Amino acid sequence: MIYPITRYGEAVLESPTRAVEKFDEDLAKLCEDMFESMYAAQGVGLAATQIGMSKNLAVIDVSVGKNPEARLVLANPEIISVEGDQREEEGCLSLPGFRGNVLRPAYVTVRAQNVTGETYEMRGEGLLARAFCHEIDHLNGILFIQHLSMLKRDLIKRRIRKLKKTGEW
Ligand code: NI
Repeated sequence: MIYPITRYGEAVLESPTRAVEKFDEDLAKLCEDMFESMYAAQGVGLAATQIGMSKNLAVIDVSVGKNPEARLVLANPEIISVEGDQREEEGCLSLPGFRGNVLRPAYVTVRAQNVTGETYEMRGEGLLARAFCHEIDHLNGILFIQHLSMLKRDLIKRRIRKLKKTGEW
């Protein structure tokens, strides 16, 4: 099932999430639906809050469906170490049409549980390191625009307010 993606302005996106405790068939189905929803929206990562669910759960696939081994489920993830810097343009499926340069670590190691509840650690670089940070931010109620300058952020917020008035958001 493909879920609609929640947009900036919906409270669930900026609220902390609840831990995933049950690793059952329902969770496996939800993860499948999250991958499907992410591919349909052409994203490389999707947090549960982006389909309106307050769960500490995200999926990532930096190969965008090309490599089955690149599919990652991150339940209750945490960043355990970072190295270096990268500054690249970043966007978010919940803020369609807006992008901004965000400083992130070049290498990020995460610890998370997979779909069966097994704990794993993984080191990512480049886009994967960025996706780890972006999705874990989501799970803490943080959107990428919070990493932009106040000027740039306010500009985006004003443009979204205008779009809301005309019913385009
Ligand atoms: Ni996002």
